[in-house]
Amino acid sequence: MRTPIVAGNWKMNLGTDEAVELARGIGENAPTNGVTCIVAPVSVHLSSVAEALAASPVLLSAQNMHWADSGAYTGEVAGPMLKELAVRYVILGHSERRQYFGETDEEVNRKVLSALEQDFRPIVCFGETLEERESGRTEAKVEFQVRAALSGLTVEQAERVILAYEPIWAIGTGKTASPQQAQQVHSFIRDIVGERFDRSTANSMPILYGGSVKPRNFGDLIDEKDIDGGLVGGASLKVDSFVELARIAHSV
Ligand code: 13P
Repeated sequence: MRTPIVAGNWKMNLGTDEAVELARGIGENAPTNGVTCIVAPVSVHLSSVAEALAASPVLLSAQNMHWADSGAYTGEVAGPMLKELAVRYVILGHSERRQYFGETDEEVNRKVLSALEQDFRPIVCFGETLEERESGRTEAKVEFQVRAALSGLTVEQAERVILAYEPIWAIGTGKTASPQQAQQVHSFIRDIVGERFDRSTANSMPILYGGSVKPRNFGDLIDEKDIDGGLVGGASLKVDSFVELARIAHSV
């Protein structure tokens, strides 16, 4: 069985003290079993947040990483640096990185491969725009993105991947995909993973949903067979709503 996951993508928010306070609150109140809780602060807060979470079961993710181990890449952060900070997960290919920083499918794939080689679990994001959905191109888009991101992976590597379906039209807009809309894409993607690797890899791969996840809509989403948790922006920035989401996932 797949353990549900609630991952908070804090994006470019919070000062150090606020991040530490939020991490502490989540660490002290989130369920300790039956759900994996992850938080992803900005990279300059990883060290302080790691300290705040040291005695808790909440795990740490980065929001991005470069594929190279070091080098002349001004402004970037490398995997070995994240390793030193107790980071276990890394969000890759978020639509905001693709849209605002021109990240390509090929770059996302290089990052996924590098993350796996360094023993991180990548949380690989994909999703369609509103225009793509309305013109019937959702499946073509998500299949292309997922195949590209997982290109060149061995089965053993694929077993450590977490996917996150984030329809771009649902991110930060208050418009959530309906549980049926999300389930349809999740099940489609699980079949693609099954075709690309094998059925057992597909069945064990967590596929999260992201896009205006809130305590009021999360229960119905996570009740769907192929929705294994949430990648959460806005609602992960408050202790109460994050903990509520973790409890909902815990009780599935
Ligand atoms: P919101 O939950 O704020 O819509 O953000 C979703 C997201 O992009 C998580 O990565």
